[in-house]
Amino acid sequence: MSRPADAIEALLNEGRTFPPLADFAAEALVRDREPYERAEADRLGFWEEQARALHWFEPWQEVLDWTNAPFARWFTKGKLNVSYNCIDRHVAAGRGDRVAFHWEGEPGDTRTITYAELLDEVCRTANAIRELGVGRGDRVCIYMPMIPELPVAMLACARIGAAHSVVFGGFSATAISDRTNDAEAKLLITADGGWRRGAPSMLKPIADKALTTCPTVDHALVVRRIGDDAEPVAMADGRDVWWHDIVPGQSTECPPEHMDAEDLLYLLYTSGTTGKPKGIMHTTGGYLTHAAFTHKYVFDIKPAQDVYWCAADIGWVTGHSYIVYGPLANGCTSVMYEGTPDTPRADVRGGGERAGWDKDRLWDIVERYGVTQLYTAPTAIRTFMKWGAEWPAKHDLSSLRLLGSVGEPINPEAWVWYHVHIGGERCPIVDTWWQTETGGIMISPLPGVTTTKPGSASGPLPGISAEIVDEEGNTVGVPGGGYLTLTEPWPGMLRGIWRDEDRFRETYWSRYPGRYFVGDGAKWDADGDIWLLGRVDDVMNISGHRLSTTEIESALVDHPAVAEAAVVGRADERTGQAISAFVILCGGNVPTEELRQEIRNHVGTVISPIAKPADLVLTPELPKTRSGKIMRRLLRDLAEGRDLGDTTTLADREIVESLRAAIDT
Ligand code: WTA
Repeated sequence: MSRPADAIEALLNEGRTFPPLADFAAEALVRDREPYERAEADRLGFWEEQARALHWFEPWQEVLDWTNAPFARWFTKGKLNVSYNCIDRHVAAGRGDRVAFHWEGEPGDTRTITYAELLDEVCRTANAIRELGVGRGDRVCIYMPMIPELPVAMLACARIGAAHSVVFGGFSATAISDRTNDAEAKLLITADGGWRRGAPSMLKPIADKALTTCPTVDHALVVRRIGDDAEPVAMADGRDVWWHDIVPGQSTECPPEHMDAEDLLYLLYTSGTTGKPKGIMHTTGGYLTHAAFTHKYVFDIKPAQDVYWCAADIGWVTGHSYIVYGPLANGCTSVMYEGTPDTPRADVRGGGERAGWDKDRLWDIVERYGVTQLYTAPTAIRTFMKWGAEWPAKHDLSSLRLLGSVGEPINPEAWVWYHVHIGGERCPIVDTWWQTETGGIMISPLPGVTTTKPGSASGPLPGISAEIVDEEGNTVGVPGGGYLTLTEPWPGMLRGIWRDEDRFRETYWSRYPGRYFVGDGAKWDADGDIWLLGRVDDVMNISGHRLSTTEIESALVDHPAVAEAAVVGRADERTGQAISAFVILCGGNVPTEELRQEIRNHVGTVISPIAKPADLVLTPELPKTRSGKIMRRLLRDLAEGRDLGDTTTLADREIVESLRAAIDT
């Protein structure tokens, strides 16, 4: 565990409790513990009931087939289509005029997309990608900024039965080609670029570089987002096609494929403890059931009146489940925003008088659209805290009625700030714990029912079973701390790692047979509420982004001047964790500041700018045990400026002193 002990202590000593707010609870979808009891009495019956909220072309035969565990099959033989569930059925029910997305570009341009318009756009796109040779069972890689064409592309894939693999727009060419090749994708959907911090951030040149090593990709479909505001991007003859040349002319008729409940909906690559990202597999019926159910009840969604906003990026799982699939399945109106929270206000590019960099863009959006639910990450909240309460105070945030947090443990101070300065002490906060692998929220309060505590994610949702165990796999009892495990299969669970059965069994199911191993430390307090304590493996969580130490070490040794590298995650006030790298240079290289920066930037190029180490220490040696294992605990203690404790297993104790000196300079 990498949180400093005193921070955990502070979390555990946090005594404040927040009972459900009376006004909120009176109107909430769930007002008592009845669903918990119902699910407890008949877990599969409970999930079956949630699945009935969707539209099925053909009913399922069995709710869960777990005979081939850990490979689950939910709603066997049931047939449905995700895009039909997310769009057509709302239009068919007469709600075509309801807004699906209030989209706002960073420069201030906007688009309002109703469900009826979304249906037309998805059908046209589905027909276009078919024309480009994509069919049922194929994979499509998507590398896009946060523009409406991104959810449209995902839904178009789902409509024709192709699986998508979205690669976060901040990733590098190598990251795209690794993922594209692993998935053997036929098509890449991208854009010339997107707007970030007031300037174009070009994606197509990065995609072009990736495509030089992606033999399975026949075509790139390219949205024109930036156009004349940057150098024109290159279009490869015969390979690249502009979206505006092929999509608008297509028919708006595109009957949805009848997919099996267990057909692949998407792959999403995430960091594990090795250098190679895992292609997490999510399928159709169980995933959508889980995403829709959790979205509705955790955020207390009233589709006819709410304007919900998940301020994540669709490149991560949070965006998949809680910008695209959950909200649309529930027929909800969402806000979607392209840029960063501190970008020029809408009128800046038009020469408006409020030119300059404003730190209240988010609050301006909440006010203008009347946002009712806001879902964001602790790292963002801590940034807002640093900027100061005067920014939200400039705006009328009274439309908000619920706040959500996701991605990492939220420290009580940030929770309370969020509650006071954003929620006006009027909004319940749902601290939602889950993972790319779980597909949807697992541990969270239900806002009309749960008494919350700042820093605790409360308990498992109805239908979900979690337990905290010790090293040997024995439940630790209440109160007690150890490793979080999930004891029963759930509908949104990953169905495997793409083309790597062994790794799937090994990573999640081997440590405690019969239980899913989460990789997070956790604690039950005396009331039985769960407190998440961060990762217990070599996975780091930087601003809610998962990165593995090995992945970054591989990127470091990929630089010609680097002989050896060790990476640890150290605690950081704003980003949760920050990357500390210790690097030994190859003989003949002089440790200059220039080289140090070059090596840091190299990681940015190989993986993503978010993976650049915050500290990078050039050192002649690394602390190792006598058997040659790098002592990461010691590096972490050094990086966090702690006392080193027992160093008797260290082969050469002088290294510590030279490292300490190197860190200080
Ligand atoms: C961490 C993001 C504490 C955790 C949805 C998990 C959290 C990892 C919380 C998954 C939370 C996520 N409290 N920790 N509310 N939410 N985490 O796959 O360590 O990007 O294992 O999914 O984020 O990250 P991932």
